Amino acid sequence: MLNKPYSESCDQNREPIGQVLEQFVAGRKSVLEIGSGTGQHAVYFANKFPFLVWQTSDLVVNHPAIQAWIDDSHLDNVLAPIELDSTDKWPVRQYDILYSANTVHIMSSHAAEKLLTNIPGCMHENSVFLLYGPFNYQGKYTSNSNARFDSWLKQRDSDSGIKNFEWLKDIGQHSGLKCLHDFEMPANNRLLAWQKIND
Ligand SMILES: C[S@@+](CC[C@H](N)C(=O)[O-])C[C@H]1O[C@@H](n2cnc3c(N)ncnc32)[C@H](O)[C@@H]1O
Repeated sequence: MLNKPYSESCDQNREPIGQVLEQFVAGRKSVLEIGSGTGQHAVYFANKFPFLVWQTSDLVVNHPAIQAWIDDSHLDNVLAPIELDSTDKWPVRQYDILYSANTVHIMSSHAAEKLLTNIPGCMHENSVFLLYGPFNYQGKYTSNSNARFDSWLKQRDSDSGIKNFEWLKDIGQHSGLKCLHDFEMPANNRLLAWQKIND
């Protein structure tokens, strides 16, 4: 039996994220989460919004952990993880909500770019893409703690690090995404809401 991995930050940020998510769930049903991690957000939000069908995904290495959280939840609206690597594995279907938290700063610039360029293929004209995490603005950190976090990330993996909002917005625009809202969140995080640009 797998000891479920636990992320304290998931417990801390799930309520404020849930409050923003609440604004986007009406009339929407299917969710694809990219980088489900431990699976904690998936079971929390699937329980909070029982009318959603929450598809978890991640690199295969994280699947047992996600599955353990799903099994313990006994929820039938959160689905077993599918393999999704932003650089090469994408489902061939559309979802009403695309959700990803704390992933882009873990990714290399290449993987983050691929996230933004592949997302529109999983969206229809009324889908929304919600991206939560720390971002820089005009190359500047929004806090000293984010600056320290970024240097810790880069020591761990020199390809990772906090990305610039303007860089993401630019890639989004080129791949057919428009950033509709930039929500200020606790602990110097943001939640970016994107929609597909209509052809
Ligand atoms: C810091 S964890 C965040 C997990 C969870 N979303 C949360 O908020 O706690 C980053 C996640 O991104 C995933 N990830 C990293 N690179 C990825 C990629 N190229 N494609 C998809 N997921 C990736 C990792 O496997 C990990 O689960």
